[in-house]
Amino acid sequence: MGKESNLSEYRPIRVALLGAGSVGSEVARLLLEQKSELAARVGAELELIGVAVRDLKTKRNGFPKELLTTDAESLILGADIVIEVMGGLQPAKDYILLALNSGSDVITANKALLATHGSELFNAAEQVGAQLYFEASVAAAIPIIRPLRESLAGDRVKRIMGIVNGSTNYILDRMDKSGITLEAAMKEATELGYLEADPSLDVDGYDAAQKAAILASLAFHTEVPLEKVYREGITGVTAQQIAAAKRDGFVVKLLAICEFIEADDSGSEGVSVRVYPALVPRSHPLGSVDGAYNAVFVEAEAAGRLMFYGSGAGGTQTASAILGDVVSAAKRHVAGGPGLADSIHANFEVLDMSRVKTRYVIQLEVKDQPGVLAKIASLFAEHGVSIETVEQGVLGLSLQTASLEIGTHVASDAALAGVVQALKSNDAVQAVSSFIRVEGL
Ligand code: NDP
Ligand code: HSE
Repeated sequence: MGKESNLSEYRPIRVALLGAGSVGSEVARLLLEQKSELAARVGAELELIGVAVRDLKTKRNGFPKELLTTDAESLILGADIVIEVMGGLQPAKDYILLALNSGSDVITANKALLATHGSELFNAAEQVGAQLYFEASVAAAIPIIRPLRESLAGDRVKRIMGIVNGSTNYILDRMDKSGITLEAAMKEATELGYLEADPSLDVDGYDAAQKAAILASLAFHTEVPLEKVYREGITGVTAQQIAAAKRDGFVVKLLAICEFIEADDSGSEGVSVRVYPALVPRSHPLGSVDGAYNAVFVEAEAAGRLMFYGSGAGGTQTASAILGDVVSAAKRHVAGGPGLADSIHANFEVLDMSRVKTRYVIQLEVKDQPGVLAKIASLFAEHGVSIETVEQGVLGLSLQTASLEIGTHVASDAALAGVVQALKSNDAVQAVSSFIRVEGL
């Protein structure tokens, strides 16, 4: 390309790839196919020096066999830039530390590792002046790490609400559009290869919680330990809840929420990081995110409301984010410069779920008798929770019961949880069929 005369000034930048699975195979393909374009952008050639895998005998169509090795450590020691797309905590963590300590910049898509050992890895990078890039770790192809780390670095982020797990979004969307059960929608998602090998990572919200921890630490300059992320998955979501949501103009979404909470009577300021299925108005920008798509909705003090939307998974899509990081790392290699330091200077307290203020919609079966509604209303009042709407079904589960759907005003999660507990042990209540939080109003 046009800049080739300049390229000779730099020796090729040696790139090592750890992993040749769904993501790694696409990263290798793009590095090889777009070699001259990437060289022009970087100002030096990128030379893929090897690809570490577990098993050399695995058939890999179109993959240059001579690049494959099982000796990851030697590969790392000969590289300038190391891309980790193996997944898992170990040996990925040791390999990244080895790469950083030998002066290489590292690019990873490993959200599980970053959410679990992120601070150790960032400290190691800082000590040796190396960089750790991780754009692909949250919402794959969607640029969200760089906007939070750089573009919004001068602003104050107030709140992030994200649909950051594509497979659960697919499942909830299928339940919404076709009225099918959770089990049937999960079967479809499995057949399409959307769910992780361990589906619990998706449906129990672990994957979204890892991503929420990463986003919150960037947005609030605070270390967010994974165990402080409140987590509920989608396994309790019923077809009945989805139908009621649809009727009322809402849609159920698994949300990852990172929020700054001001000091109030119940405690000091801090951040809340949480994952749960919630009712979102269909008119909200997140309400129309369908299929396996991801979206991250950011509210910042000066910037206002921003929405990032796109593919949150897939080999090629994830490779796009990784290649962006490769170009950044390689440019730094050519031009020098300190790069970005991890920014956790604010170190806000990560608050308990009880501090969150939200609304609930509660569905329950009650005895169809005089005075029952008044009894139920007094339970809400005792817990300081104000009722906004009450709807009574035409028929309950039997002739002796009535079904009620109660929507609340905003209250603390502690108070709302107290109401649900009290309803469950009240003899006028046959069953609390479901309760779900409401977000995005
Ligand atoms: P795969 O399971 O498809 O691929 C993993 C690759 O790593 C395989 O090539 C495997 O080798 C290799 N590997 C595993 N363990 C070792 C080891 N101990 N030594 C050497 N090589 C090893 O994973 P994905 O490509 O799907 O995911 C990679 C990473 O990207 C994960 O961290 C994941 O969370 C993240 N990610 C993935 C997305 C996706 O859509 N797939 C989206 C966003 C992030 P072998 O082939 O020999 O088994
Ligand atoms: N299991 C994840 C999802 C893959 O469904 O979004 C991408 O991180």
